[in-house]
Amino acid sequence: MKQRENFGSKLGIIMATAGSALGLGNIYRFPCEAGANGGGAFLIVYLAIALVIGTPLMISEFVIGRRSHSNPIGAFRLLSGKRNVWPVVGYLGVLCAFLILAFYTTVAGWTLGYLGKSVANHFAGQDLGQIQAQFTAFTNHPWLPLLCQMLFLAMTAFVVARGVKNGIERWSKILMPMLLVIMVVLCVKSLTLSGAGDGLRFLFRPDFSKIDGHVLISALGQSFFSLSIGMGALITYGSYIGSKDNMTSSAVSVVLADTLVAVLAGVIIFPAAFTFGIQPEAGASLAFTTLPMIFQQMTGGYIFCLLFFLLLVIATLTSTISLLEVIVAALSEELQISRTKAAIVGALGTAVIGLLATLSFRDGSSLLVGGKTVFDLLDHLTASYFMPIGGLLIVLFVGWKMKRADVMDELTNGGSLRAGIRRGIYLIIRYLAPVAIGVIFVSQLVRL
Ligand code: PHE
Repeated sequence: MKQRENFGSKLGIIMATAGSALGLGNIYRFPCEAGANGGGAFLIVYLAIALVIGTPLMISEFVIGRRSHSNPIGAFRLLSGKRNVWPVVGYLGVLCAFLILAFYTTVAGWTLGYLGKSVANHFAGQDLGQIQAQFTAFTNHPWLPLLCQMLFLAMTAFVVARGVKNGIERWSKILMPMLLVIMVVLCVKSLTLSGAGDGLRFLFRPDFSKIDGHVLISALGQSFFSLSIGMGALITYGSYIGSKDNMTSSAVSVVLADTLVAVLAGVIIFPAAFTFGIQPEAGASLAFTTLPMIFQQMTGGYIFCLLFFLLLVIATLTSTISLLEVIVAALSEELQISRTKAAIVGALGTAVIGLLATLSFRDGSSLLVGGKTVFDLLDHLTASYFMPIGGLLIVLFVGWKMKRADVMDELTNGGSLRAGIRRGIYLIIRYLAPVAIGVIFVSQLVRL
């Protein structure tokens, strides 16, 4: 068999995984979901889930990936023995990656469009109404959002075709820290706006009476989406982790970084929304209207705006790369075709569904399924069904199907790291995580 590539260093794994985790999920989707689900109530459930379920699930995916050195389909086949149904979890994961990529690249295309707008200084001197009108005009434009989406897919396919170390790892290492720095600057600016108090109260004051089945499943879906878990992306990245690397601490670092960036995004967006009179429930337009408004009010706004959208494009790219990588690893290993061919096939397949997602976003679009746009349908299907079910099956697999000795062997790098809290993590994977996912998932079904 061909020698598989590995990540070059521990920092490389953290950065590549963080690159996958950090993206539109944090900056676009988190504020959207928090805004629609009562702010503080959502945040508190989100934090609890990221900690109690997200971390052990991320570790479980690493365990499966590194143990098998394979794509998600091959991983379940190799680890579960002959004639088993477990590879279905891998197939579901690859399908999920494909569905996410389809609607994710819609918004990814917008980031590219907005980068163009910031270069051309389109936000200068505009009031809120005009900035909102720009968003509507852009998403309704006959071909521009489609072109941006296709460009984004092509960039993703290009990097993925080049492979793990040169493409994925190198870029993530430099660009992720830069994004963090610029977000801190934006945060400071947002906190000086007149609506800062209201915005922070909205985000941080939990109203426990608002927590219901819908908030629970939305927070679960959001944390899985944001951490890239429950569908095999991190099984795939786990398969490139070297045998000496400490997966537990890498996972903890990534969960902390991802949570920090989501909260930062909230601290940037909600104070601005309250200052400029934008509804926190504004949905898709929230980030794309609040952010240009903030930049307008800043000294050096032009440069900050440009830098921000540039970094957002890159953060988004490192996420689309990890999504396409799931498809490419599976196609190239299962069908024995080259990475380049697999990247082209994967991107073309995604383009077809992705096109529908983008078109369905137009005002008055007739691309509706059961009253939902194709875009919303894909988002809802993946975050509320595929990822929770995938996540549940993954922790069950590691907790109950794999041998305890094998799992502990992975967690301790063959006994060279102390078992200590890793025993506790194993118990959480075995008992707490599946029960928690199961209860939340059922609470949603009961509501229907
Ligand atoms: N976690 C990414 C984000 O927050 C999205 C993603 C989901 C990437 C699933 C890979 C797998 O933007």
